[in-house]
Amino acid sequence: MRSILIVNPKGGCGKTTLTTNLASFYAVWDVPVAIVDLDPQKSSLDWLRARPSHASKIHGFSGLNCKPKLPHNVRRVIYDVPARPQLSAISKLIDVVDVVLIPVLPSAIDVRVTAKFIADLLIKVKVRHKSVKVAIVGNRMQMNYKSTKELDNFLMNADIPFIAKLRASQKYVQSASNGLGIFDMLPSAVKQDVETWKPLLKWIEQVIIR
Ligand SMILES: Nc1ncnc2c1ncn2[C@@H]1O[C@H](COP(=O)(O)OP(=O)(O)OP(=O)(O)O)[C@@H](O)[C@H]1O
Ligand SMILES: [Mg+2]
Repeated sequence: MRSILIVNPKGGCGKTTLTTNLASFYAVWDVPVAIVDLDPQKSSLDWLRARPSHASKIHGFSGLNCKPKLPHNVRRVIYDVPARPQLSAISKLIDVVDVVLIPVLPSAIDVRVTAKFIADLLIKVKVRHKSVKVAIVGNRMQMNYKSTKELDNFLMNADIPFIAKLRASQKYVQSASNGLGIFDMLPSAVKQDVETWKPLLKWIEQVIIR
């Protein structure tokens, strides 16, 4: 079993969207997958409740009060973390997961919050001394996106791989309202969106296998 933590203290940057769509990818490809929702808002679990019975199976647990008992066959676990988590709680999770993904929106406000969080991960949590692999994922990037000074400077200084640029797309909003992810949809309807996920999926599986 391998586990993936989706975290960024900034609200609304796409943590739940990344969690649910990654889960839908694994489920569609018959990889037994579970979501552990650590957010009292329970957005991932709400999404899962809306999931149609004919859609491929995704296990869901709240991780708020106790450690969930995961089914033995589960091969991928995805943790959805709330905005503004305690750094001490994140530090403990980092000790048990294989991969940390940090979604970031390409706006100066989001970039600043994320830069401070990454500094905390490097200096206080000392992620570089741990076996966990950390990467940044751009989210809601426009097709004709022109990089900003803030994002460029941030990426240069963060020294953490920037592995994918997920498009801003209504397909995420539409699919989420039915408990689905883009990977549950007709491939022809989400071709451009799926393209932007390929480097992310490749990176995860490469670092997990190593
Ligand atoms: N790539 C995208 N394209 C279009 N809409 C998106 C995209 N990513 C996220 N959204 C939308 O942005 C909103 C916030 O996303 P999401 O709930 O995933 O963020 P979050 O980081 O989990 O928020 P919170 O901090 O409140 O938990 C949602 O309405 C979601 O549908
Ligand atoms: Mg969320």
